[in-house]
This record gives sequence, C-alpha cells and structure tokens, in this order.
Amino acid sequence: MADLNVTIGDLKLKNPVTTASGTFAYGEEFKEFMDPGKLGGIFVKGLTLHNREGNPYPRMAETASGMLNSVGLQNKGVDHFIEEIFPRIKQFNTQIIANVNGSTIEDYIRVAEKLNGLGEMHAIELNISCPNVKEGGMAFGINPRSAREATEAVRKVYNKTLIVKLSPNVTDIAGMARIVEDAGADAVSLVNTFLGMAIDAEIRHPILSTVTGGLSGPCIKPLALRMVYDVYKAVSIPVIGMGGIMNAIDAIEFMLAGATAIQIGTANFTDPSVSLKVIDGITDYCKRHGVENIVELVGGLE
Ligand SMILES: Cc1cc2nc3c(=O)[nH]c(=O)nc-3n(C[C@H](O)[C@H](O)[C@H](O)COP(=O)(O)O)c2cc1C
Repeated sequence: MADLNVTIGDLKLKNPVTTASGTFAYGEEFKEFMDPGKLGGIFVKGLTLHNREGNPYPRMAETASGMLNSVGLQNKGVDHFIEEIFPRIKQFNTQIIANVNGSTIEDYIRVAEKLNGLGEMHAIELNISCPNVKEGGMAFGINPRSAREATEAVRKVYNKTLIVKLSPNVTDIAGMARIVEDAGADAVSLVNTFLGMAIDAEIRHPILSTVTGGLSGPCIKPLALRMVYDVYKAVSIPVIGMGGIMNAIDAIEFMLAGATAIQIGTANFTDPSVSLKVIDGITDYCKRHGVENIVELVGGLE
C-alpha cells in the first residue's frame, strides 16, 4: 500500500484528505455516517472572537452544479470552541485545524493568540477570504496590503503552522500567494467560494437575503484547479487545494496541479462519507499507477 503521509509546515497528516471549513461542522455531527479518525484532518467551522448569529435566511441557494451560501460565519465564538467543543473533538484520531476569522486585524490576532495555547492543535487556517460578512473577511484577502498586514500580525502571535486561505475573487491569485508567503505563512489553502448571485425570476427578487453569496461545488472545479496550478508555480510553501472535489480522481487532479493536501467541501452535503471514499479511491489509484509515496503526485504533471 502507498505511503499517504503528507506534511504541511509542522503539521503531519496521515493522508492528504481533509474536510473544508463550514461544510463538516466540528466533525462530531458526522460520526454516525463515518469515522472522522480516518481523515487526514478536519478544518472546523469558522471561528470569530465573539458569538455570531450569521446572516438572515434564506442563506443557501441551489444552482445548476453547485451551491450559493451566505451563512455569514455563524458560531458561538472562540472561547466556547476552546472550552466546550475542542475537548470533545480532540479525541478523534486526526488533526483538528481551526479556521480563524475577524472583522479587524485585532480580532484575528486575539483569536489566533487564544488558539496558540491549545496544545493538541498544531495549525490554524486564517480565513481572509469569506465573501459573506459585511466587515473584514474577503476585504482582507482581495487587497494585497491588508492580506500582508493580517498575515504578518497573526504570524507574530501564532508560532505553529499558519495556513492562509486565499480568495479566488482576485485577478492575480499567484501574486496574493507570494505576498502571504513573504508575510510569514507556512502554507496557503485555496479556493474559498466565488462571489455569485441567484435570482427568483417569478418574484423578481434575489434568492439570498444578502443578495450575493459564495459559489462552491463541481461548477468551480476547473477554475479552482487552474488557481492551484498557478499558485503552486509561484510559491515554495505547500498548497492545500479545494473547490468542487467530488471524488478521488478530482482529488488526484488537484495533487497533480500542485496540492500537497486537499479539502472536501460541498460534496459532504450530498454524501457525508464521501471523504472516506476519496481516501480509498486515492489508495486504489496509487496501486494502479505504481505510486509508492503519495508525495510523488504533488505537481506531478507530465
Ligand atoms: C455552507 C458553507 C459554509 C462555509 N463556511 C466557511 C467558513 O466558515 N470558513 C471558510 O474558510 N470557508 C468556508 N466555506 C468555504 C469552503 O471551506 C470551501 O473553501 C469552498 O466551499 C470550496 O470548496 P467546495 O467546492 O469543495 O465546497 C464554506 C462553504 C460552504 C458551502
């Protein structure tokens, strides 16, 4: 059997398959469908400094081959996560990675500082790319100066593996990746959702309460794949790829484009055990292609 271990900074994953923030809750909700301990890692639902109710309903809309959401980072705040949720989910035999959000740089710093003290958590993902919040979020990730400032500020207070999640809603994602690498990121993850919109023609009204939302799912895969490929060529830190991965072959394609690990998002809504099928499918691919170590596939286009 192929060796599936991969390393992102100091974070060691037993396989490259992880679940994407906001699509797998805290992992425990999926326990009746699959064993979360088999995953390489779980990127948990986005955390903010304080409790957030999220955006008003409707905040989900189905589209032809994907979904639009504007959940707006609903969560009970980082302290609740540290005190109530993490003690339970750290028992899973997998890496738990927090997804850090803020309206101001100070917010990002304070959330990251609190997580720095969590012994069993070895990495955070800095979300500077959420399109569904009025203040902060994507605003940090589409402006080169604020992307640098947010990354540098968190780097100063967080001394474990820092992954910065990039927005696809920019003209030069490779340039943004180089900026956050230079500012101290140990890895980049991409892509977050694409800003989109859905309309109900019968009532002449936008479907989402927020009018616009983030598009995810199979429809974004070719766009995400191209971005992972461009970023891989531009930086020397590891890339974590995502965007419309539905099966093992999609995951392999992201690895060939340059991803060291992948995240599965929207697919969890259609099949809660899809991530384990992806692990099995990757193992099978390695067997069929004589791959002994999964790392051989990273950026392995011929
Ligand atoms: C309902 C929903 C909630 C999400 N919440 C977050 C979040 O809290 N933080 C974050 O960084 N990304 C969030 N995302 C984005 C996903 O993590 C992922 O980047 C995106 O959906 C693309 O992957 P996919 O096409 O496989 O879903 C969310 C996506 C969805 C669909």
